[in-house]
Amino acid sequence: MRQNGPVIDLWYKNAIIYSLDVGTFTDGNGDGVGDFRGLTDRMPYLAGIGVTCVWLLPFYPSPERDDGYDVADYYGVNPRYGTLGDFVEFMSQAREMGIRVIVDLVVNHTSDQHPWFQAARANPDSPFRDWYVWSKKKPADANVGMVFPGVQETTWTWDARAKSYYFHRFYKFQPDLNVGNREVREEIERIMGFWLQMGVSGFRIDAAPFLIEDKGTKAPLGAEQYAYLTEFRRFLSWRTGDAVMLAEANVEPRDTLSFFGDGDRMNMMFNFWGNQHLFLALAREDASPLVQAYHDLPALPPTAQWGSFLRNHDELDLGRLTPEDRQFCFQEFGPELTMQLYGRGIRRRLAPMLNGDQRRMELAYSLIFSLPGTPVIRYGEEIGMGDDLSLPERQSVRTPMQWSDAENGGFSTAPAAKILRRPIGEGEYRYERINVEAQRLDQASLLNWVERLIRIRKECPEIGWGGAEFLKTTLPAVMAHTCRWRGQTLLAVHNFSRSRCTVRIELPEGTRELRHLFGRNPSQPIIVSTPELDLEGYEYRWLRLVGN
Ligand code: NOJ
Repeated sequence: MRQNGPVIDLWYKNAIIYSLDVGTFTDGNGDGVGDFRGLTDRMPYLAGIGVTCVWLLPFYPSPERDDGYDVADYYGVNPRYGTLGDFVEFMSQAREMGIRVIVDLVVNHTSDQHPWFQAARANPDSPFRDWYVWSKKKPADANVGMVFPGVQETTWTWDARAKSYYFHRFYKFQPDLNVGNREVREEIERIMGFWLQMGVSGFRIDAAPFLIEDKGTKAPLGAEQYAYLTEFRRFLSWRTGDAVMLAEANVEPRDTLSFFGDGDRMNMMFNFWGNQHLFLALAREDASPLVQAYHDLPALPPTAQWGSFLRNHDELDLGRLTPEDRQFCFQEFGPELTMQLYGRGIRRRLAPMLNGDQRRMELAYSLIFSLPGTPVIRYGEEIGMGDDLSLPERQSVRTPMQWSDAENGGFSTAPAAKILRRPIGEGEYRYERINVEAQRLDQASLLNWVERLIRIRKECPEIGWGGAEFLKTTLPAVMAHTCRWRGQTLLAVHNFSRSRCTVRIELPEGTRELRHLFGRNPSQPIIVSTPELDLEGYEYRWLRLVGN
């Protein structure tokens, strides 16, 4: 029986987060670039599929050499996407639709065009000089620790004006900010304060481990560095009590808790560990790597939360797998060299990785929606968009949203020649075939399925609140787990294999009844005394477990 309790205010525990890039979502003024006006018009669509929070990728003024992750002004909107006024209109519409907004906070580095960097390089006595990281001599480790190996050659670049080398973890046009400088940290807080005042509910913290490191030393993180996170969190929570920080931190399980602190640092972290092992499990058609991955992860402080995701706007980073497991994933999901990136990842969208097999895509989404954490999906995933491998690096997975079979996929009314980022117009994933309008009309479409998945996920708060318990099954391909909270228990069963099977599950003691909640085969009852289940290839089932 469900025990009632007061409603708990941690909204992010059971949010449905949808990430998008304003420039590739919808062009509202027909100039060939997506913008805030276009996005504002699409908010009812997002509310309709059940999204409760939008994560906006960087939209600030920028030379756009890394899709806006090279910020030239933290207090504005890139004129390509509209004005600050358009941003406020968008925020108002989001509130009307009951959708929260979080924005990317990219303060590990600035653009080299940022006035702070320009001032810093021009004058050694400038107050901004120490906002960056300099060295008269090229450090011996300049050629290690590049984030984009094969594209980025070094982490220290000579600046003729400053007559010094400057440190950059990422591309050379992204000089690192020196977070050890108190003024830099105060400025970061000012930026947070600005956007909070504009009504956002928090931040996705770009490159969190690099942001706090002792810049330029590449030394392991210590107490002093983690304390910056506490400082930022304190500021955030005083300003806006329910605002959150969602960290991009692809770290080993043993380092995870340092980012959460005692619940006084990051509210959320993307679950990169779970993500990479989920793909390994899919590739091997064996649930064990995923079960093991969740066992490897520490128990989180009660207010902390994972962000569960499949793909994001970068490559699928498989760098934490063993070389053998990584190769196996490459072979299964990105066998050609052009599909791979930086020696560690796959630059494809989910649908083509899974050969467009909707059953397998459903399996993958059912997993991230039922494992402990808050699901984070990305625009276009709900319709199974493809990628364009003719584009360089990560651009392959950043093509415009496909709304309809109209010209430019309904993304823009501009003549094709004026479109900055072209929607996918050829091949199996072209917008004539894969688009929102067509999938709306098709009851069996991925879009309609995702809508139902979101609806059922909202009815299962135990997933967001309760940790997972993995049950014994008689087949390694089948994973069964429960999430339990306030007397309500979900049982989810997933068959990773393409083959049908009959599996037996060791149910928790005291189980009296299993009621079907979600899945493709609702008619098959499960007898609790002999809990045997026939599953089709890639089948999943969500059941409500009654009785203990
Ligand atoms: C991580 C972002 O996800 C990626 O797209 C970007 O290039 C780097 N951080 C640098 O900001």
